[in-house]
Amino acid sequence: MKRWIRRSLWAATTLVAVAGAAVVAGDELADLKMNRRVELASAPFALRSGADALERGRHLYASRGCTDCHGRDGAGRVFVDDGRGLKLAGPNISPGPGSVVANYRAVDWEHTLRHGVKPDGRPLMIMPSEDYNRLTDADTAAIVAYVRSLAPAAGGRAVLELPLPVRVLSGLGMIEDAAARIDHRLPPAEPVPEGVTPGHGRYVAAMCQGCHGPQLAGGRVPGAPPDWPDAARLAPGPGSALARYPDADALLAMFRSGHRPDGSPVRVMPFESLGAMSEVDVRALYLYLKTLPAPARG
Ligand code: HEC
Ligand code: HEC
Repeated sequence: MKRWIRRSLWAATTLVAVAGAAVVAGDELADLKMNRRVELASAPFALRSGADALERGRHLYASRGCTDCHGRDGAGRVFVDDGRGLKLAGPNISPGPGSVVANYRAVDWEHTLRHGVKPDGRPLMIMPSEDYNRLTDADTAAIVAYVRSLAPAAGGRAVLELPLPVRVLSGLGMIEDAAARIDHRLPPAEPVPEGVTPGHGRYVAAMCQGCHGPQLAGGRVPGAPPDWPDAARLAPGPGSALARYPDADALLAMFRSGHRPDGSPVRVMPFESLGAMSEVDVRALYLYLKTLPAPARG
């Protein structure tokens, strides 16, 4: 065999072996990461009851995404199934048989919802708790009051089937779970009066960050299947989707219909819940997005 052929064969074999080792290592690292313990201070957090809390909790549960992944009845449901190894379902969080919250104390709700950490200290893998980290104590307590008032429904544990490439990227630290993205030292958000103001808009926009990025500059949704489009840029600047929305009415129509002003459907966005946002929420969002500084990259 000519020397250069032998050399390149050797190089190719080494490459394959190294890549194989990286995949195996990445997969094992993913296991380690899913089973790591996240230390949290047990922040005091007062539960709420009463009609006001239930009504606020019902609205937040319906409009902040819980419905999409746990179902209206809380029994859990499949929310992604691409037929190629990616299947995700939220667990039963109603008080019915198979509930994963049967033994939840206030501190467990706090850790799961605002920090992405289960009662045993392990991270949640998929749930976008970074979107909920900025919920105020009162709103977090309202959601808990509502979830605890749900009728018992039968359901099971979460389904988390991730294709190998996603597990490898996660193990190698290229896809982070919510617990890794949240700054756990931040004190709970201070309440902002509800109204059509940039301040309230900023509060609502916290739940867009998991997909649209911390600066709402858009880009790949972390861990998204390859056929998902990039999340749009919401902040001002070149390519901002907001250019298509001349006023808050146009944005409201998009959230209610799931379609752009030109009639084309917006993909991926969870409209079952986003369509349930209040008019005040959407008008405030519009004001806030218009006042954002343009981030450097999109
Ligand atoms: C995008 C889907 C998604 C959204 C939105 C979502 N969840 Fe989850 N949730 C999950 C998945 C998946 C799990 C299983 C744990 C994981 O992520 O690894 C889970 C787990 C939970 C758990 C149980 C954690 C444990 O102890 O095992 C609770 C409680 C919960 N979610 C409540 C909520 C509430 C309340 C909301 C709305 C404020 C919400 N979730 C929004 C997908 C979601
Ligand atoms: C589960 C991920 C996800 C969440 C949560 C989400 N978005 Fe999106 N959003 C996307 C993706 C992906 C696109 C690009 C869709 C496309 O190109 O069809 C998009 C597109 C948009 C667009 C552009 C529509 C157009 O005209 O092209 C706007 C505006 C928008 N999102 C606003 C929001 C706001 C505001 C929130 C929070 C209240 C939010 N999104 C929450 C994933 C998400």
